[in-house]
This record gives sequence, C-alpha cells and structure tokens, in this order.
Amino acid sequence: MRAVMMEAFGAPETAMVKDLPSPVPGPGQVAIRTRAAGVNYPDLLVVEGRYQHKPPLPFVPGKELAGEITAVGAGVTAWKPGDRVMAQMEYGAFAEEVVAGVDQCFAIPDAMAFGDAAAMGLVYQTAWFALLDRGGFVPGERVLVMGATGGVGMAAIQLVKALGGTALAGVSTMSKADAARQAGADHIIDLSVENLRDGLRDQVHAVTDGQGADVCIDPLGGDPFDAAMRALAWCGRMVVVGFAAGRIPVIKANYLLVKNIAVSGLQWSDYRDRTPERMAEAQAEIFRLHAEGKLSANVMATYPLERMAEAMAVISDRKVVGKVVLEM
Ligand SMILES: NC(=O)c1ccc[n+]([C@@H]2O[C@H](COP(=O)([O-])OP(=O)(O)OC[C@H]3O[C@@H](n4cnc5c(N)ncnc54)[C@H](OP(=O)(O)O)[C@@H]3O)[C@@H](O)[C@H]2O)c1
Repeated sequence: MRAVMMEAFGAPETAMVKDLPSPVPGPGQVAIRTRAAGVNYPDLLVVEGRYQHKPPLPFVPGKELAGEITAVGAGVTAWKPGDRVMAQMEYGAFAEEVVAGVDQCFAIPDAMAFGDAAAMGLVYQTAWFALLDRGGFVPGERVLVMGATGGVGMAAIQLVKALGGTALAGVSTMSKADAARQAGADHIIDLSVENLRDGLRDQVHAVTDGQGADVCIDPLGGDPFDAAMRALAWCGRMVVVGFAAGRIPVIKANYLLVKNIAVSGLQWSDYRDRTPERMAEAQAEIFRLHAEGKLSANVMATYPLERMAEAMAVISDRKVVGKVVLEM
C-alpha cells in the first residue's frame, strides 16, 4: 500500500510517496482502507517540525481519514469489516491503509461521501468544543468567529447558526466576505481596517447594540486577538484555538477583571484522547446536523495522495476557503 512519508521534518515538497507493508490491527484496533483524508493546518506544522508533538522519524502525516474497515483486531466487537468510518489519530492518515483505535472511529451516515466525512472531523470537533465546552455558548448569543473562512472558522460559523446564535465573521480580506456569508454569517467584521484595535470593536458594537460579542472563537492570535479582547461583551468568553496570525498574545489581567471576562484554551487532541465518549457524542451530533442540512463539509478542493504538498500550499498560501481533502 502507498503512503506519504516524511524522512525528516521540512517543507511539504520533501514528502515522498512510498510503498509500505499493509498494517495489521492489534488488540483494540481496526484496519481501514482509506478513501479520503482531511488536510489540516496542524498537519503543516507537524510536517515542518513546528508542532507541539513531534512524531518519531520517519513518519506518515495526517490526522483524520474516512474509509471502510477491512479487518478488526482481537477483542473488537464494536466494528466489523465493511463498516464505513471516519477515524482520527495523532499522525498516519495519509496512507491507503491505516490502523486506528476503536475509540477513534466514528460511523459515517450511509448517504455521506467519504470526502465530506473526512472534512467534518477535526475542524468541526474543534469548533464544537470551543463553542459549547470552553466558550459556554447558549442559543441566542452573539459569537465573533475569527479566521472565519478557514477550516475551523467556517465550521464555527455554521455551528453557531445551526445552534441558534448570531455569527459575526472576522475576515482578513473583504474578498472572502461572500464565502463567510454563504456559510451563514450574519455580519462581516473586516480585519483589514487600518486601526484594527478600535476598528474591530466599533464594527462589533455596531451590530450588537453596543454590547459586544458574548463569545469569541480565535484561531488567529496576534493583533486580531488583542483587538477581539476589546470587543467582548460584559461576561464575555474568549476561546484561544490557535495562532495562525503568528504572535502568541499576552493578556492583561486587569482587563479580565474590569469586564468579568473569561479566557480559556482549547486543545482538540485532548478531547480525542481523554474523552473519546464525548467526542463520539459530538461527532454524532455533527453528522446529524449535516443530515438535517444545517452543516456542510465545505470541501473546496481535492488532491490525490502524491499531491499532498499542493494541498498544503493552499493552506500555507492563505488560499483556503473551508477544507482541503486528499482522495485515494
Ligand atoms: N487548538 C486546537 O486543537 C486546534 C485545532 C485545529 C486548528 N488549530 C489551529 O487553528 C488555526 C486555524 O486552523 P484552520 O484549520 O482553521 O486553518 P486554515 O483553514 O488554514 O485557516 C486559517 C485562517 O486563518 C486566517 N489567517 C491566517 N493568517 C492570518 C493573519 N495573519 N491575519 C488574519 N487572519 C489570518 C486565514 O484567513 P485568510 O484566509 O484571510 O488568510 C484563515 O481564515 C491554526 O493555527 C491551527 O493550528 C488548533
């Protein structure tokens, strides 16, 4: 079977497609014939050696896939060969055949394409737990989603709408405003304004009766984060998801006190590894909302395995709108 292999950390172009032996599922594992794999911003960080967890070399990148179970290991009763699943892992998904733990597999609805299933895991789960668990969102609240046309951002916009909130989409260029609106955004917040520090708050106040956002989902950090902190409502909740804008922000504690603001962090892989039962519940809800037509997979482009570097360039060149997927 073929797999993308990184012999050393480096640019995605240094990856090679190699023939490897088919993996055999151990106890508590299943073997999956991969049909599609989601490409995520963190995959780029892993490949380049900039991620917090570095796999031992050489390694196969990729954190999520969708396909069919071909074999089950000892003691596995929850799955059987032929079952269609989406599966997640720390790395290893960009391969034609993969083994995964039983807890890391999620049943795919019959009508759902593999490519869509592979695109509705990591980013939707991240947005789900950021919004509902860390952000404490309740229906009727106003949510400012930064990086709104990226993978996490677009999933968050759709979830806010599906769960009965008002979605404010922060976009770095107004050329992406239409994409944010199509995802369901009620209001567009232009992050390219000259004085972002005041300009972001002014825009948010203009569409929230001067109140501010109840929750902010922030995958950006940097100047956009600093500005978003000033746009939170009384008792607002800021959820730190990532630092795509480059700088890890520093928060002044007095600001939290003055407006009763809470700031929390969100680490997707902790939910995956520590609370797989909660992840399974969340994923079932995400697929249910998709079946009801309230969420979509947002796949903007698909690439074959050997063009992984091109798929990652869409992300690193900031051309992504939604999700990029590899298809096998
Ligand atoms: N904590 C977790 O568990 C977790 C899980 C998933 C992802 N993440 C992190 O979340 C971040 C976003 O992930 P993603 O999958 O949504 O990535 P993505 O699909 O590549 O989207 C990135 C978004 O960031 C925006 N962006 C990038 N640089 C920017 C800048 N300098 N100023 C303003 N906006 C900027 C992009 O907007 P433009 O298109 O306009 O440039 C795009 O909307 C990454 O840092 C990733 O590592 C964290």
